[in-house]
Amino acid sequence: MIRAKIAGTGSYIPEKVATNFDLEKFLDTSDEWIVSRTGIRERHIAAECQNASDLATEAARKALEMAGVAAEEIDLIIVGTITGEFTFPSAACMVQKNLGARRAVAFDVSAACSGFIFALANAVNYHRIGTVKRSLVIGSEIMTRTVNWKDRNTCVLFGDGAGAVVLSSEEGEGGILSTHLHTDGNYWELLYQLSGSASPSFLPEVEDQGRRFVKMQGNEVFKVAVKALSDVALEALAANGLTKDDLKLIFPHQANKRILDAIGKRLDLPSDKIFVNVDRVANTSSASIPIALDEANRRGLLAPQDLILLNAFGGGFTWGAALIRW
Ligand code: COA
Repeated sequence: MIRAKIAGTGSYIPEKVATNFDLEKFLDTSDEWIVSRTGIRERHIAAECQNASDLATEAARKALEMAGVAAEEIDLIIVGTITGEFTFPSAACMVQKNLGARRAVAFDVSAACSGFIFALANAVNYHRIGTVKRSLVIGSEIMTRTVNWKDRNTCVLFGDGAGAVVLSSEEGEGGILSTHLHTDGNYWELLYQLSGSASPSFLPEVEDQGRRFVKMQGNEVFKVAVKALSDVALEALAANGLTKDDLKLIFPHQANKRILDAIGKRLDLPSDKIFVNVDRVANTSSASIPIALDEANRRGLLAPQDLILLNAFGGGFTWGAALIRW
C-alpha cells in the first residue's frame, strides 16, 4: 500500500519575543492572569518586513533540508493560512516562487487553526491516488497582525510562526494512517475575522473604516474545542483499530494549556503523552501543530514505529486529526 510518509520537518519562529510582562506595560492584564488562564508566557512577533509566505518559506527550507529533497522535486505545495499577505495570489504561490519549486502546483487552505490538518489531509489524498510523489505541507501565520492590541480578551493569546513537513510516497505499513476532518459553520459567530474587502454587509463592524480584528467568545470556544479535539482523537484511533494506550505522543493544536489539560483528562492520557509548547509560542493558529512536531522531532522524541496523533480545532468551527506511524 502506498502511503504519504513524513520525510522531514521544519519550522521558523520570528526572533522578536513579547513576554506577558511586556504586555503588562500597555494592557490591563498581568502575567499571573495570562499564565493561570492560558499557560502562555511569551509569543514571537514577525518583523515588519516579513509576511506569512516568508515564514512559510523558511520553515519549508528546513524541512526540505532534513528530507534531503530538492525544491525542484516537489509536486505539490499546500499552505494552511488565514494571514497570507494577499487575498490573491495565495501564500503557497509565493512559497513556490521563493523556493524555485517550478514543478509544484501550489494553493492555500483556509480552515483557521485547523489549516495544517486540512492541508495535510488534502495532500495525503493526492499521494494516495498517485498523482503526487513529494509534497510540502505548511502552516504559517502572522496572527499578531489580526488582533486588536487593545482587546485583552484576544491579543494575549496569539503568536507568529510557521511549520512545514515534506511528504514522500512510500510502500509499507508506516506513514500517515488516516485523516479525519469536520466542519460546523453554525458556530461561525464564536470566532471570526471579517475580510478586508468582501465582508458581509449585515455585520455592525462593516461600518468601521479601520482594521478588522479577530472576534471571539472565548469561554464558548473553550467548551466546544475540548469536546471536538477529544472526540476526533478517539475517532482516528477507532478507525485504525487502535487505542489511546498505543499512542506515544499527541500533538493537539496549541491554543491554551487548560484546553490541553482538559483533553488529557477526557482521553485519560498522562500529561507526558501530550506535547506542549504553547507557553513559549502561544497560539500560532495553523502553524502550531507543525511547529510542535518539528520541535519534538529535532529533540529526538520520535522513533520509527511510534504512533502519534495530531488534532486541531479552529474558527468555522473546523476540527480534524491525523494518525501517524512515524
Ligand atoms: N487579562 C486580564 N483579565 C482578562 C484578560 C486578560 N488578558 N482577558 C479577559 N480578562 C477578564 C475578562 O474581562 C473577565 O473580566 P470580568 O469578569 O470583569 O468581565 C474575566 O477576565 C473572565 O473572562 P472570561 O472570558 O470568562 O475568562 P475565561 O476564564 O473564559 O478565560 C480565555 C478566557 C480566552 C483564556 C478562555 O476562555 C479560553 O482559553 N478560551 C479558548 C480560546 C481559544 O483558545 N481560542 C482559539 C481556539 S483555536
